[in-house]
Amino acid sequence: MNRREANKTLALAAIGSSLALETALAQTAVKAQKLIDLEKIDAKWKSLEFTFENTACILQRVAVPKEKTPRALLVEKEAFAAVSRRCTHAGCQTELPKTDGSHYCDCHGSQFDELGLVTAGPARTPLAAIKLEVREKAIWAVGFLS
Ligand code: FES
Repeated sequence: MNRREANKTLALAAIGSSLALETALAQTAVKAQKLIDLEKIDAKWKSLEFTFENTACILQRVAVPKEKTPRALLVEKEAFAAVSRRCTHAGCQTELPKTDGSHYCDCHGSQFDELGLVTAGPARTPLAAIKLEVREKAIWAVGFLS
């Protein structure tokens, strides 16, 4: 095996392990976790870093999507989304969202929109999205979307 073939094999292994992790996260029963009381979300509130199922994640206010998507939780006239910060290319942690809510991975330059959908590779798979619900006047993380 030459160097080029070895690099290709390593890259494929990294992608495979990332996909396996996302699948495992989606299939594992998780314990619901309270993230933030709705009354604490004021006009200045932007985002909340949290750990969910041993994964660094971020909850943020997002633009109300034009179409209904499980990636966004609508609460009255606002929308919220939470995603894993584990980049789906090779597992690096994405930076904190930019002011437009998009996510960027410094390792190889992948970019994701505020819902975690890929806008620029090399990543091809969206960031894992966390299923959100309103319970007891708070936003809860209740699992990973499959
Ligand atoms: S790990 Fe390669 S772009 Fe994120």
